[in-house]
Amino acid sequence: MPIHEIRHPLIRHKLGLMRRADISTKSFRELAQEVGALLTYEATQDLPLESCEIKGWCGPVEVEKIAGKKITVVPILRAGIGMLDGVLRLIPSAKVSVVGLSRNEETLVAHTYVEKLVGEIDQRLALIVDPMLATGGSMIATIDLLKKAGCKEIRALVLVAAPEGIRQLEQAHPDVTIYTAAIDQRLNEHGYIIPGLGDAGDKVFGTK
Ligand code: PRP
Ligand code: URA
Repeated sequence: MPIHEIRHPLIRHKLGLMRRADISTKSFRELAQEVGALLTYEATQDLPLESCEIKGWCGPVEVEKIAGKKITVVPILRAGIGMLDGVLRLIPSAKVSVVGLSRNEETLVAHTYVEKLVGEIDQRLALIVDPMLATGGSMIATIDLLKKAGCKEIRALVLVAAPEGIRQLEQAHPDVTIYTAAIDQRLNEHGYIIPGLGDAGDKVFGTK
């Protein structure tokens, strides 16, 4: 499974701001969208193009457009919503499939409570967005259900990934590419990423 840690200075700077303990909900939201957009830029670098002729100001002109596969963005609720607008800013016509998962705080096992996938999922590239890849359980469960629905090409965009989650995902879904703004040190005894961002869902929604 290829993993790309995007070490662009803008991403590193913005992620540094997101790690501050005293960050406001407003700033966290804005930065999650911005880093989401920057990761989207990286994750779509190899999309195929095709030529077409359009009517330009001085007559016919040959231009390029993205060819082939349509895209669905898949935010994992809740925290994935925090990155969604950033992705849609770059891919405004993408359809959105929603997956709702919640980790049990004791067992860390992810439980699915919403699954609303768009049509023709078998013909779409899926870009899953979730700020955190911790144990990997939520991401693996989302990929399992996308594949079950027929999805063949899947990429995952996360703000912070833990080595433990990367290993689990690699074993479960070696064909899925991950784009992350950072690979952090480890998980703590409660399954939180260290140094991480804290509870991303609470920070996006202002619930703590
Ligand atoms: C968080 C996060 C991921 C998941 C990562 O969601 O947004 O979805 O944990 O952990 P994992 O890799 O160990 O599965 P959470 O379950 O806290 O729900 P929330 O987004 O609704 O807060
Ligand atoms: N979920 C979060 O929101 N943060 C973590 O560090 C791990 C899981």
